[in-house]
Amino acid sequence: MKNKYNDFKVYLREIRKSDIKNGWLDWINDKASLDNLFSSYPINEKDLYNYFKLQKFPNSVMFAICLKENNQYIGNARLSNIDWVNKSASYGRLIGGNKHKGKGYGSEALILLLRYGFKTLGLNRISSSAIITNKSSIKSNLKIGMVKEGILKEASFKNGKYFHRIQFSMLAKNFIKKYEK
Ligand SMILES: CC(C)(COP(=O)(O)OP(=O)(O)OC[C@H]1O[C@@H](n2cnc3c(N)ncnc32)[C@H](O)[C@@H]1OP(=O)(O)O)[C@@H](O)C(=O)NCCC(=O)NCCS
Repeated sequence: MKNKYNDFKVYLREIRKSDIKNGWLDWINDKASLDNLFSSYPINEKDLYNYFKLQKFPNSVMFAICLKENNQYIGNARLSNIDWVNKSASYGRLIGGNKHKGKGYGSEALILLLRYGFKTLGLNRISSSAIITNKSSIKSNLKIGMVKEGILKEASFKNGKYFHRIQFSMLAKNFIKKYEK
């Protein structure tokens, strides 16, 4: 059987301390990212290092997203709030720098992250929410088959305004039907 993941342009590897200075710190302080991520405040290197140290089993797993062609580090993908009783988790991702956005890398990384969550960790449900103005995240979620579950009313406060968030989820059985068969 053809392994479709072989055609992907990105792969996931473990996140490293050196990634902080190799892009991560700049990306999360970039205005375009701050407007779309949960945090709305700038983060310094020490705080980011403390956050990095918290990204550990059993509560979360964080990966670096890298390009296959040259191993360049281009973003992060993370499972968090892992609930081992209900077998669920949340996910988040970031493609750093405009040069790499909109090229399908974030969608591929999401598929790889979901695969890891369902096939390696044995999770049953992975969910996320996107601020309603985040067109690329919403489109990418829908494109890869995440199901829109509803609207979280005024769940984000950004730059003096409230914004709705769209809640998405994927169940293991639906992922396997779509990507593993
Ligand atoms: C959201 C994010 C992870 C998506 O990754 P990506 O690699 O840019 O996404 P993809 O290229 O896989 O898919 C994005 C889709 O949205 C489309 N898109 C991008 N900007 C758009 C816009 N303003 N309006 C409509 N569609 C848009 C792209 O064309 C693409 O669709 P296509 O494949 O049909 O052409 C990435 O843009 C990012 O890191 N953004 C900043 C941080 C963030 O928002 N994280 C998610 C928080 S919920």
